[in-house]
Amino acid sequence: MKTILITGCSSGFGLEIARYFLDRDWNVVATMRSPRHDLLPASSRLRILPLDVTDEASIRAVVAQAGPVDVLVNNAGIGALAAVEAQSPAQVREIFETNTLGSIAMCQAFIPQMRERAQGVVINVTSSVTLRSLPLLAVYTASKAAVNAFTESMALELASVGVQARLVLPGRAPSTRFAENARPRMEGAIPDAYGALAAQVFANFQDNTQVTHASDVAEAVWQAATDPGAPMRIPAGEDAREWAATAV
Ligand SMILES: NC(=O)c1ccc[n+]([C@@H]2O[C@H](COP(=O)([O-])OP(=O)(O)OC[C@H]3O[C@@H](n4cnc5c(N)ncnc54)[C@H](OP(=O)(O)O)[C@@H]3O)[C@@H](O)[C@H]2O)c1
Repeated sequence: MKTILITGCSSGFGLEIARYFLDRDWNVVATMRSPRHDLLPASSRLRILPLDVTDEASIRAVVAQAGPVDVLVNNAGIGALAAVEAQSPAQVREIFETNTLGSIAMCQAFIPQMRERAQGVVINVTSSVTLRSLPLLAVYTASKAAVNAFTESMALELASVGVQARLVLPGRAPSTRFAENARPRMEGAIPDAYGALAAQVFANFQDNTQVTHASDVAEAVWQAATDPGAPMRIPAGEDAREWAATAV
C-alpha cells in the first residue's frame, strides 16, 4: 500500500486530496500547522502530523515521524491580492518563505529517501496565474512561477535516480479558505490609485463562472501520483484548463 504526504491539510485542496487518497485505500500522512483530528474520517491508514513548512525543525520532525513516503504533495500556500508598492518586505518574504522556500525545503527533506528506493513522485501545487498574468498578484505569481521553474529543472535530475516530479496548476477556487486566509495580509494593500483596478479585478472574479473545485485538484494530483505518463504540468479545474490551452 502506498503512502502520500500532503502539506496544508487543514482546509481547501489539501484536505480534499487527503480525503480522495484515503477513499482509494492509500496510507495518508495529512500534515497541518495546527493538527485537527475532526476534519478527516478516522482510519488506520491516516496519520495527522504537525508541520509548518517555514520551520526547519518542524520539517526534520515530520521526516523522522513519517517513514517512507511514495508521494509528496507540496500544497501549503498563502497569497494576497495587493499592489506591489504596498506590500512590506516582511510580507513578500512570508509569501516566498511559504510558497517557494517551503516547497524547496520539503523536496530537499524527502528526496533522499525516494532516491535510495529509486521511486517516488514529488507534486508541487502552483497556480494557473503563472500561465496568464493578473494584476495585483505580482508577488504571489512570482512565488509560484519560481516553483514551476524549480520543479521542471529538478524533474530532469530526479529522473536520473528513478524519482518523478510534476506540477499541478489549479485555477481560481472560491470555495477554499484561500481568500479568507489572505485577508489579514490585504489590509492597506490596495492604495487609492489602484482602487478602480481592484474593483475591476473583483468584478471579473464575480462574472467568471468557470472556477476550480477542490475535487479537480485532487483528481489532478491523483493523475500525477499514479500515471507515470502524466504531463509535467497538469492544469486543475475548468478555468485552468482553458488558460493552459490558450497560454502563449
Ligand atoms: N484557492 C485558489 O484560488 C487557488 C488557486 C490556485 C492555486 N492555489 C494554491 O493551492 C494551494 C492550496 O490553497 P487552498 O485554496 O486550498 O487554500 P487554503 O484553504 O487557504 O489552504 C491553504 C493551506 O496551507 C496551509 N499553510 C499556510 N501556511 C503554511 C505553512 N507555513 N506551513 C504549513 N501549512 C501552511 C494552511 O494552513 P493553516 O490553516 O494553518 O493556515 C492551509 O491548510 C496553495 O498553495 C495555493 O497557493 C489556490
